[in-house]
Amino acid sequence: MSTHELYTIPVEHRTWDVGMQGAARFTWEYDDGRDRLLSLYQKGKDKQWDATTRIDWSVEVDPHNALGLPVEVIPIYGTSQWDRIAGDQKAIDELTLHMTAWQFSQFLHGEQGAMICSSRIVESVPDLDSKFYAATQTMDEARHAETYARFLQEKIGLVYPINPYLKSLLDDTLTDSRWDMPYLGMQVLIEGLALAAFGLLRDLTSSTLPKQILAYVMQDEARHVAFGRMALKDYYAQLTSAERAEREDFVVEGCYLMRDRFQMEEVWQNLGFDVAACAEAVEQSEMFRAYQSLLFSRIVPCVKDIGLWGEKVQKAYADMGVLDMAGIDLSALMRADEDVAEQIDAEKAEIAASAVAVSETIAVGADH
Ligand SMILES: [Fe+2]
Ligand SMILES: [Fe+2]
Repeated sequence: MSTHELYTIPVEHRTWDVGMQGAARFTWEYDDGRDRLLSLYQKGKDKQWDATTRIDWSVEVDPHNALGLPVEVIPIYGTSQWDRIAGDQKAIDELTLHMTAWQFSQFLHGEQGAMICSSRIVESVPDLDSKFYAATQTMDEARHAETYARFLQEKIGLVYPINPYLKSLLDDTLTDSRWDMPYLGMQVLIEGLALAAFGLLRDLTSSTLPKQILAYVMQDEARHVAFGRMALKDYYAQLTSAERAEREDFVVEGCYLMRDRFQMEEVWQNLGFDVAACAEAVEQSEMFRAYQSLLFSRIVPCVKDIGLWGEKVQKAYADMGVLDMAGIDLSALMRADEDVAEQIDAEKAEIAASAVAVSETIAVGADH
């Protein structure tokens, strides 16, 4: 079966072609990689996992409430738009299905974008240690795209096209000939956005399969953000203030875009709601507020750390009310993400061990 049969809004059968810019760089220096980057590369190799075996795909998922969330978290709940479907369980189920499909479809398209950006970094970054690391990330992102695609195809059965704003952010990130721009656009902004959304759903969902998927993907993303931080921090320290200012403009624009533009407009439109009223409801919703604060808790400390901390950036963050997030300990957040994934593995091992114990007991009982 083709994915095209699962798209709720038809998409072109052609590929989306983004012109290649800049150079593919070779280096003849094979020694003296930076220790921190090489140890991250080692970790990237050690921590590869296989979605086929690590995730328990036999778990049943109700596509009409895949995340097992109460209706109160639907952003339009209690508004005049909700009145259109209140009391109509079929319509509520349909909306929930579409919201999940939209959300996970953006994850899927974003992961494909991350795979393409990291492979672009392999080509364009000058240093071998960064090329090595980006190669493991390319593999990570392939596994993420594979995982989300399987979840959507097997468990949800409905797919949304890429959000136009995500598409334009990817386009800006990839069409720039400067080698650091895929890092900045993808590793810092888009990955920061993805982490916020993954983290929110991972912590809210009561549903086993999506929780596993989100936690395992986040475990890898922690390394990706660390990579962007290390490589960009070194590079930006060498730039002129004019060159840094260009990057800061990109960050400010990207942050406003991500804050204001990811409001599931396609879902509201597709299902016949009043798009403007729904977008307003999203903005007021508690979920969205939590998402925004997570979004910036990942991005702001990173932007400061890599040295894009000029007046314009600080002013924009003050305007968004997130300036004080610069003090957040990003490494601690990332360690916590890794712990959650390991905790899930430990719980699974415990359940498996007790299942073995039960079947052994039954076997012993049968012998007597
Ligand atoms: Fe990823
Ligand atoms: Fe990533």
